[in-house]
Amino acid sequence: MGKLVYETHCKVCHGENAEGTLDTLADFPKYVYPPLAGDDSFNDGAGLHRIITAAEFIKYNMPFGVDYKNPILTDEEAYDVAAYINSLPRPEKKHKERDFPDKKLKPVSTPYGPWTDTFPALQHKYGPFQPIIAYYEQNHKIKKTK
Ligand code: HEC
Repeated sequence: MGKLVYETHCKVCHGENAEGTLDTLADFPKYVYPPLAGDDSFNDGAGLHRIITAAEFIKYNMPFGVDYKNPILTDEEAYDVAAYINSLPRPEKKHKERDFPDKKLKPVSTPYGPWTDTFPALQHKYGPFQPIIAYYEQNHKIKKTK
């Protein structure tokens, strides 16, 4: 489903394998459209590697040219394509365990541990997120939205 959304709405700029599109006229490597996967893409510690954050960004900014008043993708399509691009390979950020000193405040869709809950890594990455959100509200009185 996410791949289909990607092929319909994103591939034309971001490339067949999300490798981006290089500016063929520049005399140094320069992207016209940024890669969404591979060595030059955002790393696995980036906000865009969190599916809720990526889906929000994508819905209101992509395909390039849309704005928050005139989105093209539905919530579901944005979520699915965010999951698709985040299933592709990308650079690894070192020392991610040092991110979020207070682990309780980590966004629920942070795909890497450690967490202060026992939900599986795959659920933190792809959801469903509602049970994780409910857990923090019940056990820590923390209202999370992402
Ligand atoms: C018309 C070309 C075009 C299309 C189609 C398009 N994008 Fe983009 N995309 C861009 C450009 C240009 C940027 C860089 C924008 C900027 O830096 O302000 C970008 C940036 C992004 C980024 C941020 C990358 C980063 O590392 O900061 C993501 C994620 C993204 N696009 C996802 C998508 C998805 C998913 C789709 C399909 C639903 C899509 N784009 C469709 C041109 C496009």
